[in-house]
Amino acid sequence: MIKLGVNLDHVATIRQQRYTPYPDMLTAIKISESSGADSITMHLREDRRHIQFDDIKIAKQNIKTKLNLEMAATKEMCKIANDIKPDFICIVPERRQELTTEGGLNIKKNFQSLEKALNSLRQSNAKISLFIEPDVETIKIAKELGADAIEIHTGQYAEANESKKEYFLKKIDEATEYSHQLSLVTNAGHGLDYTNVQEIARIKLLNELNIGHSIIAESIFLGLSEAIRKMKNLIESA
Ligand code: PXP
Repeated sequence: MIKLGVNLDHVATIRQQRYTPYPDMLTAIKISESSGADSITMHLREDRRHIQFDDIKIAKQNIKTKLNLEMAATKEMCKIANDIKPDFICIVPERRQELTTEGGLNIKKNFQSLEKALNSLRQSNAKISLFIEPDVETIKIAKELGADAIEIHTGQYAEANESKKEYFLKKIDEATEYSHQLSLVTNAGHGLDYTNVQEIARIKLLNELNIGHSIIAESIFLGLSEAIRKMKNLIESA
């Protein structure tokens, strides 16, 4: 069964909007776990626009499932990750101007700096994943870099109009097949919602889907627990 990683960044977005103590992150973690989340993802951005250092500290101390820390491959973040020791680390590209992560890493261009980051992050004992586009050449380089896993960027699939959806779906399917052949754990995420998740969840070799924005948005109407259960049901019944 494909697992569901729940990204709680936007619980922190609401809190940081007013710098209030609520919504409480520990409560969000506990509800997520009791509602079927297989892991909890948090992206500690350089500009700290949502998740704060204390959120990942609280998560690490209390989590019963797995903590997946999303981060840019900077010296500051490698130090934090090595101190916190999450279960998984997903390295993502990061630009201050972007509203959200806009695409996969350019691992060919940044090979040396990523290699350095990966070597440094080995101290954390975390399984390290690279967030990349569904592209065979890029997956090959991820393997050369020594990554344990990849997370395939599903954003283009999620944003495509009906005529292009099949094309991106096929690319994600083929990329998953290739990654699996290279013995890389293969996750996927970004832009997945209640209308588009099932086609991705039918790709049997995927390990986990990481979903945030749509779940937190749906929780306004259903509550966090029901929003997670609804997503989990869609994945399981796909
Ligand atoms: N995976 C990665 C690497 C991401 O950067 C994000 C967004 O923070 C997600 C998954 C979740 O994307 P969404 O919030 O669109 O579900």
